[in-house]
Amino acid sequence: MLSPYADKMAVFGLFSKLSPEVLLNLLLFVRFRFPVWHVFATTKNRLYKTIAYQMAANLEVDQYIEIGAGLGDISHRLKNSLLLDNDQRVLRAAKIKHSQVRYEIFDFKNSSYDILNLNNYKRLCLIAVNVIQPEEWANFLGKLELYRGELFVIADVISDNCPDPINYPWIPKIIEMKNYSCVDKVYAKDSVRDITLMKRI
Ligand SMILES: C[S@@+](CC[C@H](N)C(=O)[O-])C[C@H]1O[C@@H](n2cnc3c(N)ncnc32)[C@H](O)[C@@H]1O
Repeated sequence: MLSPYADKMAVFGLFSKLSPEVLLNLLLFVRFRFPVWHVFATTKNRLYKTIAYQMAANLEVDQYIEIGAGLGDISHRLKNSLLLDNDQRVLRAAKIKHSQVRYEIFDFKNSSYDILNLNNYKRLCLIAVNVIQPEEWANFLGKLELYRGELFVIADVISDNCPDPINYPWIPKIIEMKNYSCVDKVYAKDSVRDITLMKRI
């Protein structure tokens, strides 16, 4: 017969296996009730976040803007960064997780891009990873036409190493967008994504 403490021990055992970051995300999830994906998609669990951060950090730009920044794991360490998301619950949690960063509510499909004052910057890096669907990219990049400076975009694309790309229709192949050239592409080994750095030409 199981000891009356067995359930409690099992729960304790489970919690002791969770990383401090997962535990923090879990607490934030309980408080703010954002989509549960964010709880386990930590920097440690998702190599693409570190790749995107390092790619961005190597650039010399005046400003970073991340679209669909989630809990801010990619951009919170970048100087001069603005993190945008359209989910108020996620933003509230992100402000606690990475309190030093500037976050604003913004919907890349419906918000006015005028409020971003993009032309205040000469060199801009836009980060949009794991957020924009393939059919949304043309419209999104079209909206950035109002920006006249030097523009870098970091995004995720279906990996050349992905054995079954047909099964991941939500991961774009934005490299094919005209007016942009691929500067760098790094395979995120823990997933089917490559992180790509593009420059507007
Ligand atoms: C799968 S999560 C990825 C978060 C982050 N980019 C990362 O990789 O850790 C997608 C994020 O995009 C946000 N999002 C979805 N649609 C959006 C929209 N139209 N405008 C702005 N953010 C959006 C969601 O709220 C969510 O935080």
